[in-house]
Amino acid sequence: MNVLLINCSPVKNGATAEIINVVNSILGTKYNLRSICIDDYAIKFCKGCRICHKTAKCIQNDNVLDVIEEYIWADNIITVAPSYWADIPGQFKAFIDRCTPWCNTHEPHATIGQGKKGYSIALRTGPSMRECNRIIESIEHFYGHMEIMPIDRLGLCSVEYKADVESKRNEIEEFCNKIMIG
Ligand SMILES: Cc1cc2nc3c(=O)[nH]c(=O)nc-3n(C[C@H](O)[C@H](O)[C@H](O)COP(=O)(O)O)c2cc1C
Repeated sequence: MNVLLINCSPVKNGATAEIINVVNSILGTKYNLRSICIDDYAIKFCKGCRICHKTAKCIQNDNVLDVIEEYIWADNIITVAPSYWADIPGQFKAFIDRCTPWCNTHEPHATIGQGKKGYSIALRTGPSMRECNRIIESIEHFYGHMEIMPIDRLGLCSVEYKADVESKRNEIEEFCNKIMIG
């Protein structure tokens, strides 16, 4: 089974990356894992031209197709996003907007393939789970229109830096164990 881990933060070695390291150490023994950081890709903003509604293709040329290739490869996708102003970071939002050629609300639309499962992990510095849920809603909305089945979600509060992830290790392990059971 192929598992894609997505760091939606522009920080390559922060708290989000550390969560990905923990997930990697648990699932990596069992599955083929790839992890990517959204900030490693050049992704232009969607211009809202809607040409893709008719062609299922974007007129812009950048790294979006490289990210999409990773989605096509994956059977399971684990999206890990920190709260930036109570929502997903702008880099990941820009990517979502550019996925409109694959969005199932218009015909024709491109497809990344059927039967993929999606998992969401949100983290934030503040104490309330409500904000994590809001981030997870954004991710699951994206999953829905990409025809990725949302399976499970984890919200982690009171996480600011990499070092704060250690206290969440058990929660992350439990989450990963559920993925392994299927
Ligand atoms: C620009 C910015 C905005 C943020 N906004 C929020 C916020 O609205 N609520 C919150 O709880 N944490 C917020 N945070 C804190 C991050 O969610 C938290 O530090 C997270 O662990 C960062 O992960 P990273 O180091 O992988 O980017 C913000 C951090 C940054 C840099």
